[in-house]
Amino acid sequence: MDIKLREGRPDDAQACGRIVYEAFKAIADEHNFPPDFPNPENSIAVLSFLLANPGFHKVVAELDGRIVGSNFLDERNPIAGIGPITVDPAVQNHAIGRRLMQAAMERTATRNVPGVRLVQSAYHCRSLSLYTKLGFDSREPLSVFQGAALNLSIPGCVVRPASEGDLDECSRLCIRVHGHDRTGEMRDALRPNYAAVVERAGRITGYTSAIAFFGHTVGETNDDIKALIGAAESFGGPGFIVPTRNSDLMRWCLNHGLRIIQPMTLMTVGLYNEPAGAWLPSVIY
Ligand SMILES: CC(C)(COP(=O)(O)OP(=O)(O)OC[C@H]1O[C@@H](n2cnc3c(N)ncnc32)[C@H](O)[C@@H]1OP(=O)(O)O)[C@@H](O)C(=O)NCCC(=O)NCCS
Repeated sequence: MDIKLREGRPDDAQACGRIVYEAFKAIADEHNFPPDFPNPENSIAVLSFLLANPGFHKVVAELDGRIVGSNFLDERNPIAGIGPITVDPAVQNHAIGRRLMQAAMERTATRNVPGVRLVQSAYHCRSLSLYTKLGFDSREPLSVFQGAALNLSIPGCVVRPASEGDLDECSRLCIRVHGHDRTGEMRDALRPNYAAVVERAGRITGYTSAIAFFGHTVGETNDDIKALIGAAESFGGPGFIVPTRNSDLMRWCLNHGLRIIQPMTLMTVGLYNEPAGAWLPSVIY
């Protein structure tokens, strides 16, 4: 197969977005799970955002001049995140995914990125095998939750929309919990008004870029995370992602009627700090 890789462009959104929808739907149908993207319009909209965003490195694979796959590297923060990666179901299992992953990892090597992360669909044996062979370690079992908005508050916690002026405090909190900041990502979440912070005694003790598949959340304690989940109007995409080993938060979500949609796994290569606080990953990491 004569596969060529090139940098992705905004006008690739239709072709790449369609493959993203079809690739995730095919694997989800095979295992009787809901697809990651509900329809091609949704995946094309997400790809339009990624392809136009200078914070992402984009790789497109072509076979005989036809787009057959794509991969994205989130470079908005000191730690990089990979995904979504997809290959046209008609040509999967022919090493195109491996090439797309290697291209992203070569990019991180040339830029001396200290650590790379991704969130893997735990039911997908092929991606687990590929990422493990490429050096990724499985770090955390994850559970995706979905359900009706909870409309509840946690005593002592005040949740409000985040603003530009909160970014430094959010960065400091993220560094305390994760050892690195995610300010680039938070900045992107301010404009559509997805981001929120939680305050206790007038101090920011937690924040979220969105309680959603593509959002991450950090808190000093589980109560901060619960306050942000309780205030969310909806849970975007397939749902928000909870570290399965956080039994207190898992039980709280379950006791409030939320349902587990699918299992996932946080995988990392390079620098990884065991988080010192409460957190929810995004589907990128
Ligand atoms: C995941 C995906 C991008 C991989 O791309 P691909 O072109 O199909 O995969 P490749 O052929 O490059 O690599 C698959 C590797 O896994 C190996 N493999 C596949 N199934 C395996 C299994 N059950 N056990 C062990 N190894 C397995 C293959 O032998 C190959 O190994 P190699 O690179 O050493 O030869 C593609 O399958 C896809 O788009 N899937 C749907 C969307 C998706 O799940 N994306 C990832 C979200 S986490």
